Amino acid sequence: MKPRVLQKWLTGACAGALAIIASLVLTGIAEAADNKAFGPVPKLKVDAKKAALGKRLFFDVRLSGDAAISCASCHMPDKGFADGLPLAKAYPGSGGFRNAPSLINTAHRAAWFWDGRLGTNLNDVTRESLTEDWMMNMDMRLMQERIKQDPVYVKMFKEAGYGEPSNGSVRKAIPEYLKTLISTGSAFDAGKLSARAQSGFELFKGKAGCAACHSGPRFTDDQPYNTGVPNNPEIWKNPMRHTTYVAFGLFMGIENIYNQRRDVGAHIRTHKADGSDIGKFMTPSLRELKYTAPYMHNGMMKSLKQVVAFYNRGGGDDPNKDSRMKPLNLSKAEQGDLVAFLESLSGKPLTGAAYVWKDKIPTDYPVIKDWRKAKN
Ligand code: HEC
Ligand code: HEC
Repeated sequence: MKPRVLQKWLTGACAGALAIIASLVLTGIAEAADNKAFGPVPKLKVDAKKAALGKRLFFDVRLSGDAAISCASCHMPDKGFADGLPLAKAYPGSGGFRNAPSLINTAHRAAWFWDGRLGTNLNDVTRESLTEDWMMNMDMRLMQERIKQDPVYVKMFKEAGYGEPSNGSVRKAIPEYLKTLISTGSAFDAGKLSARAQSGFELFKGKAGCAACHSGPRFTDDQPYNTGVPNNPEIWKNPMRHTTYVAFGLFMGIENIYNQRRDVGAHIRTHKADGSDIGKFMTPSLRELKYTAPYMHNGMMKSLKQVVAFYNRGGGDDPNKDSRMKPLNLSKAEQGDLVAFLESLSGKPLTGAAYVWKDKIPTDYPVIKDWRKAKN
């Protein structure tokens, strides 16, 4: 089924059917990272030409419906491929209701988005990012025609082995580029922890219990939990953001969405009748946090100090809170050590030409004459 057709069909379907579809799409979560060991994030094998094409596409505003925003509008290289805002912006005329996650190491995830609603692959995540009306609101057929007009793309698609530009290959090239965004150069990976960071690492694995969920090279088990992060009232105060959330909720089959006063998180996948899955969010990676404040699915925490204080209190106030969230009784010094450890997990910013399309993307190429008959 074409994504648009699927979307229309889904809109008409009942909540039960949606739940089944969501859980089918999300089976990837079960195969979460089995590598619990800490260590550098493994590099991925990348096809250089396909990744270069993906890089240009990532920074190209013509991939959004009205050519106003690119992927990089919300995933900015100098902000760790997040955007520095509590809640992301959205396609002009709508407002975002989630924090934009970093895309560094995202190619290693087992499921994507804060609720983990896509557990298949980055090809699907790319499609969703392009076509969702509150993201880039792009019609893939129009996108394909736009790209075919640009001689630089025609050449790059051919050189990458894709033949003529097509929406299918856009959805392959962008993920290939995302595979190049891997953490590198942190003090942790270099084995150069300060005494405070080293003490923080011991707390992290021991007394503070962080490693129960933040495990493996990316410091995440790719599973959803309720830690009791407070709701962001902005989503209910700001009509643009609220409307977007309601539309998303209707689409995902959230029960009683008009009276819902919180982001239900992973509940959209499991739809438990008793609501015990409400407020679960995917464990994020702890890499590159230096660049990606504010934190949590709704940007409710401004600093790592605030995050650690939150855990020290035993997390937030939520009936569904994970049982491991208990007051930690850490001293001020110990909390500082944990922050120093978290800071040691940030490496070199991925802002060089290897990661960023630095050239201007010109759009003043001549119109192709009789384009319906023209072969690229
Ligand atoms: C308008 C802002 C915006 C734009 C434009 C945007 N994103 Fe995102 N992106 C977000 C937000 C917000 C989320 C989290 C959404 C959620 O959890 O529901 C996200 C999530 C993601 C994720 C999942 C990350 C994770 O760790 O789960 C990937 C991958 C991603 N975006 C890639 C892209 C790509 C590729 C593009 C361009 C085709 C793009 N995004 C365009 C805001 C944006
Ligand atoms: C029960 C599992 C669990 C435990 C234990 C846990 N975390 Fe988390 N962590 C999460 C989840 C889930 C989130 C996202 C919550 C949200 O956004 O609602 C998160 C978010 C974070 C973030 C924000 C990252 C970002 O990019 O927004 C930081 C930092 C963090 N945790 C550090 C820690 C530290 C330090 C500890 C130990 C004191 C810890 N965590 C213990 C599951 C856990």
